Parts: sequence; C-alpha cells; structure tokens
Amino acid sequence: MSALLEVAQLRTHFLTRAGVVKAVEGVSFTLERGEILGLVGESGSGKSVTGFSLIGLVDPPGRIVSGSIRFDGQELVGLAPDRMRALRGKRIAMVFQDPAATLNPVLTIGAQMALAVQAHGGGSERAARDLAARTLTRVGIPDAAARLDAYPHEFSGGMRQRVAIATALLHGPELIIADEPTTALDVSIQAQILAEMKQLAKQSGTALIWISHDLATVSSLADRVLVMYAGRIVESGPVASVLRAPLHPYTRGLLDSLPAMARPGEKLNQIPGSTPSLLSLPPGCPFAPRCPRATDICRSDPPVVTQPGRMALCHHPLEMAAA
Ligand SMILES: Nc1ncnc2c1ncn2[C@@H]1O[C@H](COP(=O)(O)OP(=O)(O)OP(=O)(O)O)[C@@H](O)[C@H]1O
Ligand SMILES: [Mg+2]
Repeated sequence: MSALLEVAQLRTHFLTRAGVVKAVEGVSFTLERGEILGLVGESGSGKSVTGFSLIGLVDPPGRIVSGSIRFDGQELVGLAPDRMRALRGKRIAMVFQDPAATLNPVLTIGAQMALAVQAHGGGSERAARDLAARTLTRVGIPDAAARLDAYPHEFSGGMRQRVAIATALLHGPELIIADEPTTALDVSIQAQILAEMKQLAKQSGTALIWISHDLATVSSLADRVLVMYAGRIVESGPVASVLRAPLHPYTRGLLDSLPAMARPGEKLNQIPGSTPSLLSLPPGCPFAPRCPRATDICRSDPPVVTQPGRMALCHHPLEMAAA
C-alpha cells in the first residue's frame, strides 16, 4: 500500500506588491497511515502555508505554483474546489491555532457540531447531536451531552480547543493537520491535550501533522520530524535520532535554545540573527548568514545528505563531522 500522503516538490508563492514571497519552496515528504509527523521551525518559516496548501486553503495572492500532493493516491493540486471541499472536514481535517476563529460565537456548541456533521451528509439532527456528544466525550469534555447547549464563551480556552479538536475528529478523518493548536493554552493543559491527541491518533489510526515552533512539544508527540527553514525542509527523520544527533546546524540551534534540553549549568543559546526575509534570500543555503559552520561554499545550493530514514540539506552536516 502506498503512503497516505506524498508531497513532492511543493511550491506555494504569494505574489505581493513587494515581490514574490516564496513561502513554500520545494517541500517533499511522505506520511504513512497512523503516523505522527511534527513540522517545526521559527516564525515565518512556512509551516502554516504548508498546512493550508495540503488542505486547499491558500487564498490569493497565494497559490501553489508547482509540485504534487497525493492523498491516498489522489492528486490534490489542481483538484476541483467542490471535490476538495468534499475531502476537507471529512477525510482531511485541520485544527487551527485559535479556536475562536473556527467557532461561531452565536451558535451553541451542539448546533455547530451538528452542522459540521451534516455538511458531509450525516443523517438526522438527533444522530448528529449524539455523534457530537460522543466525540466531545472522547476529547475529555465531561458531561458532554448537557454541554452541547452551551455557547463557546461559556467554555474555557482549553475546552474550546477540545471542541475544535472534536470537530476535526467527527468524521474519523484519515489525516488531521493541527497548526499550533495548544500554544494559546497554559502548559499543563497543553501537555494533557497533547497526550490525548497522541492516544486518539494511535487508537483510530489517524495520521497527524503537528505544526509547532517548539521542538520540545513535537519531541514528546511525533514519530518523525520535519524541520523547516525559509520555506524548505532542511532536515527530516525519526524524532529520537534527530534530537540525539541532528545533522543540520539549524536543528542543533533549535535544540540548544530549548530550556529543557540544556545540560545543567549550561546557558541557553539563542540562534543569532533572525529569520531572513523571503523576498531577499541569500544565494545558496538560506541559513548560512546565521550558521556557525558556514563557509564560502554555502553560497551555493546545499546538497541533500542522507542517512537511513533521514535527510538534511547542508554543506557541513554535523554527524558527518563527528564521524
Ligand atoms: N497572505 C499572505 N501574503 C503574503 N505573504 C504571506 C501571506 N501568508 C503568509 N505569507 C508569508 O509566508 C511566509 C510563511 O508564513 P507562515 O504563516 O507559513 O509561517 P509559519 O511558519 O506558520 O510562522 P508562525 O510560526 O509565525 O505561524 C511568511 O514570510 C509570511 O509572511
Ligand atoms: Mg503559522
């Protein structure tokens, strides 16, 4: 059986007044059924635009300029909007960072979840409410049937995010794209929701793409990680091996800036400089201006370095140096 999702050389650009913003520039990866993939990188690296591209929600002035997204063998790039809508919410669902953006303040939780059920032809209102209540229970909302008549403002931020996750789960999608769904929540609720999402994904065989700027969050959740920088995947591999021995100096930099990963007595090291403007990238490796290992050769395009199950785009990968 082929992978659930095969993304090849995806490029999504925004044609702005100031120039062409190459938000996603040659992204390739695959995702197996039931697999949890972390997509990490600093702000502006193209994580959200990648997620929106997968689900067909890139709005002008943005568009997918080339590449392929195959979902269960079906090409999604160029798919007719009505066929994309039929997939979205049913077989592929997305959870956004801000649940307020997805929940309608004037509808009860039950009413909007029933609408989401019925959008994909789901039977009577009664049946839709039953399914909504069962799904809310699965994401840990106590007394769910009674709470269907509450409005979003009657829920805490954590509970609203659980509702958004439950809505994504309604149709038993094969793929959920979760775009920083817990960053607005406090740390203990974050950890709880993370653990629950992982359990739900593993139980139901749902594949999950978890977008986060936080490598620590991803490390506790994902099977594999993609590290994104300036619209490219600069490193990918199984979480454990990437964390233990990153190949790309950027991944090393992200790790060194994590409080939880610092060795006792060591100070945290932020990566110097800031993410480059996608309108004026340097030639060659976009990370070179911030990279402690950069040399002249980094002004040319970096080669793909591979190890079993892993890859990095770098002239001076770390593991190689250690070996
Ligand atoms: N509508 C738009 N018009 C122009 N540029 C855009 C638009 N949407 C996104 N971009 C640009 O695309 C790039 C990638 O943005 P994206 O939102 O994917 O970053 P991100 O990795 O999700 O960052 P964050 O961690 O802050 O959410 C950024 O440079 C952003 O400015
Ligand atoms: Mg984002």
